[in-house]
This record gives sequence, C-alpha cells and structure tokens, in this order.
Amino acid sequence: MKSRVKMLSFAQNGDNRGHLVVVEGKKDVPFDIKRTFYIYGSDASVVRGKHANRRTQFVLINVSGTSKVKIIDAYGRETVYELDRPHIGLYIPSMTWKEMYDFSEDSVLLCLASEHYDAKEYIRDFQEYVKEMGK
Ligand code: TYD
Repeated sequence: MKSRVKMLSFAQNGDNRGHLVVVEGKKDVPFDIKRTFYIYGSDASVVRGKHANRRTQFVLINVSGTSKVKIIDAYGRETVYELDRPHIGLYIPSMTWKEMYDFSEDSVLLCLASEHYDAKEYIRDFQEYVKEMGK
C-alpha cells in the first residue's frame, strides 16, 4: 500500500540538561536520508513549496518556531498540518502536492529527503500534477 502523509513523533530523550531528539534513516523515518536542508527567514506572508516530487520523500520538522503545511490531493482536497514542536515531523511521500506557509519569525524548518537534489523531479504546475496522478 502506498505510504500516506502522516505526523511522526520522535522520542525527546529529555533530562535536566535539556532535550536531544534523534532521527535515524529507516528507523525513525521510513527512508534512508540522502539530503537535509533547512528553511528560515520566511514569515507569515510567504508561501513556499507549491510542488510535488516524482521520487523524493520528505520529513519536515520545525526544530524552532512554527509553520503550517497544506497538502492538496489530485481532487483539490486540502489538509493542513501544523508543525509546532521540535520533536514532531510530517512525513510526505513522493507525488504529494505541498505548500508551506504561516512561518513564525523564529521558524527553522528542517527538511530530510530520501534523494539528492534533482530539479527535474519537481512538478511545479498543479495541473501537471493532476495529469501525472491520472485524475
Ligand atoms: P525551492 O524548491 O524553490 O524551495 P521551496 O520548496 O522551499 O519553495 O528551492 C529554492 C532554491 O534552492 C531553488 O533555486 C532550488 C534550490 N535548491 C537546491 O539547490 N537544492 C535543494 O536541495 C533544494 C531543496 C533547493
């Protein structure tokens, strides 16, 4: 069965010194991590993403601050996920249309990816996404 978008909760390993969250490929996220990048300096007026990836799976974690992720399926149905804790991640399978927005000033959005960067595997046009989904 195809994996679906889902929230992941990581162990916080907290003690009186603070917290330490571990995210290991194929253990805490369902893929080997080949790439990480992070997004900061966006604000509440910005919408990022607006694309689907033909191959890459992601896990998004707001290690600082908050943001929202809107998932839009090929029928136009929208689901919004809020990332507001550093031990919570959002798993996004390949061929999923995503938009990130409503960034807090202190937002640092860490993105873990299953593939190296390849601009050609991005679908940046929603109608093209619908077409490739066969809808
Ligand atoms: P972009 O895909 O527009 O960011 P977002 O998904 O947040 O809207 O990427 C911004 C720029 O960074 C664009 O020029 C492509 C480049 N980029 C890389 O070179 N490597 C990467 O791994 C990513 C994610 C982006």
